[in-house]
Amino acid sequence: MKTLRVGVVGLGLIGALHARIFNEMPDAELVAVSDADGRKAEELASKFGCRACADVKKMCDEAGLDALSICTPDQFHLENALYAAKSGLDILIEKPIAPTEAEARQIQEAVESSGVRAMVAHILHFDPRYAQLEEAIERGEIGEPIHMYFRRTNPRANPRRLPGVSIFFYIGVHDFEMLCAYMRSKPSRAYAQQVSRINADIGCEDTVICTVNFENGALGLVELCWALPDNSALGINTYAEVVGDKAAGYVNIMDQGLSLITADSVLYPDTLHWPEYNGRIQGDLKEELRHFVSATLSGTPYLTKMDNAITAVKVIEACFESIRTGLPVDIE
Ligand SMILES: NC(=O)c1ccc[n+]([C@@H]2O[C@H](COP(=O)([O-])OP(=O)(O)OC[C@H]3O[C@@H](n4cnc5c(N)ncnc54)[C@H](O)[C@@H]3O)[C@@H](O)[C@H]2O)c1
Repeated sequence: MKTLRVGVVGLGLIGALHARIFNEMPDAELVAVSDADGRKAEELASKFGCRACADVKKMCDEAGLDALSICTPDQFHLENALYAAKSGLDILIEKPIAPTEAEARQIQEAVESSGVRAMVAHILHFDPRYAQLEEAIERGEIGEPIHMYFRRTNPRANPRRLPGVSIFFYIGVHDFEMLCAYMRSKPSRAYAQQVSRINADIGCEDTVICTVNFENGALGLVELCWALPDNSALGINTYAEVVGDKAAGYVNIMDQGLSLITADSVLYPDTLHWPEYNGRIQGDLKEELRHFVSATLSGTPYLTKMDNAITAVKVIEACFESIRTGLPVDIE
């Protein structure tokens, strides 16, 4: 059986998971890893029995890869993607595709002109709740959209781990991309407001509320907050509501279906994104990487669409402009 020879660049929270999942997957081979912090690469390489490369160029040039998984911070997605495309490798890019629409388009052009394929890792398409709602929309069961509402909240430890990273890109892009995928119409205008008090010292927003108009006349609302107290226990707390002219659909994730009540805490651990049980990482992330590997090997289309990934970044840029000016912003 043909296996996909994969390298991972950026071995932080998500990259270390990618490396482990590829290593545990029967039709993938984790061939090499790389990180700006060479010790991280050495550690993971010795754990998984693969090669540690000093940088991404060395990895693409020398490791004999078929595909590169890009898990660096957003501002390095472009340079890694351009080098991988130039090297003829298929690419998995963590969300957001890039921090600006201009960089995202450069990635798209490089991928198209070099004849490789790229998938942006928008994990909600592999979450059984969001994915089933998307399929109901595609089957026409909800009808013409009237309004959509997405919410995502996090404890404040999350931005403290990532000073200066915007809530829009770290957690919000999941919902903006899903809003665009569900809506299947072009966004035409965005209006956003923010509060930054608790996270002001690290240059991050506390909360943002954004309305987005679409060419089909429907409205979308995205509400994000990462200022919850750290003892709020609800690590992943999200909601989606889709109202069409025929019907409605809801995703409501308050707890994860598992409560662990200990002597001094109540925890709702992740049971779906990347939980570990039976000695392996399971869940949506594994399903996403499995899909990337099998679609790359078989040449079949990727489930996530690069156009939606780029549109989500474009809407977020309009939200930044709206926050700066205090006015709604037209989206070209
Ligand atoms: N799909 C998801 O649910 C999800 C979850 C978390 C993060 N992400 C995305 O993954 C990316 C990384 O996020 P994270 O939380 O893992 O970040 P992180 O800060 O935990 O890790 C980033 C890693 O990249 C390394 N690095 C930095 N610059 C580099 C460079 N130029 N070349 C090579 N290595 C470099 C750092 O040393 C670090 O090990 C971001 O784009 C983020 O949005 C996606």
